[in-house]
Amino acid sequence: MRLLVCGGAGFIGSTFTRLRLQDHGDEVTVLDKLTYAGREENFHDFAENPAFRFVLGAIEDREAVAAAIELAAPEAIVNFAAETHVDRSIAEPDAFVRTHALGTYVLLEAARESDLRYLQVSTDEVYGSIEVGTFTEESPLRPSSPYSATKTGADLLVESYFHTYGLPSVICRGSNNYGPYQYPEKLIPLMILNALHSDSLPVYGDGMQVRNWIHSTDFARAIGYVLEHGVPGEVYNAGGPEEEANIDVVRRIIELTGASESQIEHVTDRPGHDRRYSLSSEKVRALGWAPQVRFEEGLAATVEWYRDSSWWWEPIRSGDYRRYYERQYGRSLG
Ligand code: NAD
Ligand code: TYD
Repeated sequence: MRLLVCGGAGFIGSTFTRLRLQDHGDEVTVLDKLTYAGREENFHDFAENPAFRFVLGAIEDREAVAAAIELAAPEAIVNFAAETHVDRSIAEPDAFVRTHALGTYVLLEAARESDLRYLQVSTDEVYGSIEVGTFTEESPLRPSSPYSATKTGADLLVESYFHTYGLPSVICRGSNNYGPYQYPEKLIPLMILNALHSDSLPVYGDGMQVRNWIHSTDFARAIGYVLEHGVPGEVYNAGGPEEEANIDVVRRIIELTGASESQIEHVTDRPGHDRRYSLSSEKVRALGWAPQVRFEEGLAATVEWYRDSSWWWEPIRSGDYRRYYERQYGRSLG
C-alpha cells in the first residue's frame, strides 16, 4: 500500500511506519509538524529506506496536507497526529483543540476530495473511566479531560464524514501504549528514566489507578488489521492483555532497574483523574489480530531499550523537558 501517515514522527506513528516499511513493503510518507514529541531520531533505522519520505507540516495546514498527498499519492491516510499528554491538556488545552478538531477536519476534507480511505487513531479515554467491567465499541462516550474530549470530538467528526459523505473511514481506539521511543512525560518512560537517574518517582494520589497496557508494536499491528480488513464506518478497540495498578507498574520498574522503593513519592493527584480504563478487543480479534507481547516481557525489554538508548533520551532530558518537569512536578530533575 501507499500510505500517508500523519503524526508518524511520534511514538506510535513511527512504530507503525517501521512495521509497514519492514514487514509489509508499503510506501510510507510521514506528514508531521515535529512538536516537542515528534522527532526525526525516531526514523533512525529507516530514514534511508527509498520507500520512506518525510514532509514537515501541520495537519491543520491545508497546503501542507495537499502537498503531502501530491507527493505520496496515497491509497489511505492514517492519522496519528495529536497532542497526547493529559497533564499538558489540563495546563494548556489550546493546541489540543486546534490539532484534534481543525486538523482532523482538514484531513477528512482532503480524504474526501482525493477519494482516500481514512483511519483515525483514537484512544480508550473517549469512553471515560470504568470501575468494573470493560468498554466495548458500543459504550457511551464520556471523556473527562481536554485531551480525551477533543479526541472524542475528532472521532465524532470522522463518523459524520462516513454518514454524511460516505467517506470510507474507520476508527481504531487503543489502550495505554508502552515501548521504545515513548516521550518520557508518560508514566512508564518517566519512571524508567527517573529510576535510572536516582530521581524521585512521582506517583499521583494513591497509585491505585488502573491502566490496560498494550505494547506499541501490538497496537501498530492492530491498526494494520483495521486498515486492511476493517469495515468502513466501524470502530475497533485494541486493548492490551493486562491491567495493572500504577503503583504495581512502578514497583516492577524499581525491580528491573535496581532502584529503591524509597524513591517513590506520592504527589498531588491529577485533577479529574480517570480511575480505570479497560477495553474489550473482541471485534478486532475477529479480524485476525491478537496481542503478542505480555506486559512482563514487554516492560523488561522496554527498560533495556531505555538503558541502552541514551542517544535517544539525553537530548530530551537536557532540553525543554527539564522546564516542563519543573512546572509539572515543582522540582528539578537530577
Ligand atoms: P506522540 O505525542 O508521541 O506523537 C504525536 C505526533 O503527532 C508527534 O510526532 C507530533 O509532532 C505530531 N503532531 C502533533 N500535532 C500535530 C499537528 N498539528 N500536525 C502534524 N503533526 C502533529 O503520540 P503517540 O503516543 O504516538 O500517539 C499517537 C496517536 O495514538 C494519538 O492520536 C493518540 O491519541 C493515540 N493513542 C495514544 C496512546 C498512548 O498510550 N500513547 C493510546 C491510545 C491512542
Ligand atoms: P499517562 O502515562 O500520562 O497516561 P494516561 O493519563 O493517558 O493514562 O499516565 C498513566 C497513569 O499514570 C495515569 O493514571 C496517571 C499516572 N501517572 C503518575 O502517577 N505519575 C506520573 O508522573 C505520570 C506522568 C502519570
